[in-house]
Amino acid sequence: MSPPEPLASALADLDALEASGLAAFRQAETAEAVEGVRIEFLGQKQGRVRAAQERLKVLEPPDKRPYGQRFNTVKQALEAAWDAARARAERPDRAPSRGIDVTLPGHRPKLGHRHPLTQTADELVDLFGRFGFAVARGPEVEDVRHNFEALNIPPSHPARDPLDNFYLPGGMMLRSQTSTVQIRVMERQPPPVRVIAIGRVYRPDTVDATHSFMFHQIEGLMVDRGVTMADLKTLLRLFAQSYLGHDVKVRFRPSFFPFTEPSVEVDMHWHGGDRWVEMGGAGMVDPNVFRAVGYNPDEVTGFAFGLGIERLCMRRHGIDDIRLLYQNDTRFLAQF
Ligand code: DAH
Repeated sequence: MSPPEPLASALADLDALEASGLAAFRQAETAEAVEGVRIEFLGQKQGRVRAAQERLKVLEPPDKRPYGQRFNTVKQALEAAWDAARARAERPDRAPSRGIDVTLPGHRPKLGHRHPLTQTADELVDLFGRFGFAVARGPEVEDVRHNFEALNIPPSHPARDPLDNFYLPGGMMLRSQTSTVQIRVMERQPPPVRVIAIGRVYRPDTVDATHSFMFHQIEGLMVDRGVTMADLKTLLRLFAQSYLGHDVKVRFRPSFFPFTEPSVEVDMHWHGGDRWVEMGGAGMVDPNVFRAVGYNPDEVTGFAFGLGIERLCMRRHGIDDIRLLYQNDTRFLAQF
């Protein structure tokens, strides 16, 4: 037999055994790693706990009791650590046992939202809805009758120039204005009428900060007995104030459109500087247009207007280049 050992160093070895066993179980992340640690510490034949138990035999008789008591707590602690490590390794969603800083800010999910032009269109539907206007629709591929003829635009008119329109085979075209929907609505229903139509229009314009070959318009049409220019001006002013703010300045300039008489151009004051920007055109529906759809111009009158949606959206949000609305740059879009 080897010479008796001092109790103090035997107890210190038990402390070290406990510390290294607990650390090993804590760091074992897979089932295989946990099993390896179990064999090293708790193995029946060669385990380090087993070896520590053997050591009991070489202690002085009075030292056996304190050593045995401490040995039991170490063994229980390591068995408990084994259980915990096994449970952790078996959980499929197990998190790494170390290295997580719960105080770090998380990753915000990126949420999409409606495009600013869609937001504008939705808001216009809402606003004009409150003025009693229903929503009408028409096709983007149109025939020449709805885009021109019924709107009192004769074949000789410069607006029909092939250089200013996207003509398609078979007398069809990409509509150049939403005024087409006026005709489609009046063909379908007798007066009174109170509708808006929102949609895309196409013109072969060169793209720059204020022009695009495709843009959006909102068309309005109100037909009834006794509708006047005063109704039109009041509605457009109320609308501009609702959408752009109460301090917005709006002005009407005499103009000409084949489908309205008299006609006006409507300008809004651009913020900053002394700039007026055209919002669109409007006027009293020309009697020839009523005749083209079978309405009696002696019985009803009406007004119509067509406004550019991009311009409204740009004035509202202070956007200075129309191209930004079509580039789908999320750094731009995320601001609205
Ligand atoms: N359609 C015209 C354009 O695109 C705008 C317009 C003017 C529409 C007068 C109207 C109107 O309804 O009455 O330039």
